[in-house]
Amino acid sequence: MHDAVEALLDEVGVETQPQPLFDSTRLRGQVALVTGGSSGIGRAVALELARCGVHIAFCFLDSGAQSRLDAQEVAQRLRAMEVRVFFRSCDVRDSREVRDFVREVQEELGGIQILVNNAGIGRDSALWRMEDHEWEGVVRTNLDGAFFFTRAVAPLMRAQEYGKIVNVTSVHGLRSEFGIANYSASKAGLIGLTRSAAVELGPRNVNVNAVAPGYIRTTRLTDGVPSEVLDRARERAVLGRLGDPQDVAGVVLFLCSEAARHITGVVIPVDGGYLL
Ligand code: NAI
Repeated sequence: MHDAVEALLDEVGVETQPQPLFDSTRLRGQVALVTGGSSGIGRAVALELARCGVHIAFCFLDSGAQSRLDAQEVAQRLRAMEVRVFFRSCDVRDSREVRDFVREVQEELGGIQILVNNAGIGRDSALWRMEDHEWEGVVRTNLDGAFFFTRAVAPLMRAQEYGKIVNVTSVHGLRSEFGIANYSASKAGLIGLTRSAAVELGPRNVNVNAVAPGYIRTTRLTDGVPSEVLDRARERAVLGRLGDPQDVAGVVLFLCSEAARHITGVVIPVDGGYLL
């Protein structure tokens, strides 16, 4: 039977594509929307999903020429992996921009099965010196942004009775340190949002989970955090090292895969044992 089909395909000149021997993720052909996909953890997540044949939409904050170049470079790397790509700047703090972006992704890529709420910032300061804009900027990016995206994709995921949402929170949503009241509160809030969304969307087969990275070697960290803080973080992690974006991407991929179909509402630390 198989030989007969091959012979027929030969006759009509149809080329068959080689199939991967074994793909445990079963994600090929799905569409993922990754917020903040132009650098660091978001970029690693986008590349990891694309490696499994997932079409990628990502947004980023346009903060100047370099940010646009970074985004273009990521898009180029994704396209080289033969997946479809849609990207543009979209400020996650603006609910209208978020709605428009989600609509455009659906139009351009034909749907959304996966949402990774990754865009995030920090603005550290002792809380008694923290300015309103430092508090608001962090909470609006890290928490409001994830809410806006989750709300925008929820009707679609409920209707298709399928979806995977992964929120990138932080060990600092579970345990705080000096000078990060805004960041800690936003990331703890994101854990609350993860659980609430899991409760509300679970009955329609939508899984909502979070990863809580420890100190991960991205430029944001290596350029912005004093080396003595990084040394302390390395010592505190029982594995004795900082993480790489790839370490987080692997766990996000797992949570989006069939292997994790019965997991929802959890927070997985990816921290080398920092929290122990
Ligand atoms: P990064 O600075 O390399 O990347 C941040 C991304 O978010 C960029 O693509 C940027 O354009 C985007 N972004 C920022 N504000 C935005 C806005 N208003 N609208 C749209 N996009 C926006 O940062 P990194 O280190 O990759 O962090 C990614 C996520 O991981 C963040 O949520 C961060 O809090 C979290 N995280 C990072 C850790 C680390 O050690 N690097 C540790 C724990 C959590």
